[in-house]
Amino acid sequence: MKILILNGPNLNLLGKREPAIYGNLTFEQFFESLKKKYADVELSYYQSNIEGEIINKLHEVGFSFDGIILNAGAYTHTSIAIGDAIKGIETPVIEVHISNVYAREEFRHVSYIAPNAKGIIAGFGLQSYELALESFI
Ligand code: DQA
Repeated sequence: MKILILNGPNLNLLGKREPAIYGNLTFEQFFESLKKKYADVELSYYQSNIEGEIINKLHEVGFSFDGIILNAGAYTHTSIAIGDAIKGIETPVIEVHISNVYAREEFRHVSYIAPNAKGIIAGFGLQSYELALESFI
């Protein structure tokens, strides 16, 4: 089973960025433990701060992978283009968030990903990614 974890803007700063909200672990540390735990899954990881690169990655894997776990960061709330890209591919996408976006500012309650996603997992810290992975398995 081929699964991609795709992270959007500012998620390269995990471990340093607003630790009270996003925790102290870097994504690379978390990803290493996930790969060990789910050794049978072909897990890949890609992060970009650039909207077009996220779209290119969706196009690249979206007809061959079994699942995409997408945390589009703030683009979740703004990007019609990423929403359209998800509509245009075949691989199912699960939207994830580390924080509970619905318990935060109102602008975070809007998602251009959600209408095109298989499901949404938010508010469980980095475990949100693992729950999405479990769902694909
Ligand atoms: C986030 C929530 C977004 O609102 C925010 O812009 C992020 C991270 C999360 O994982 O909680 O960058 O997607």
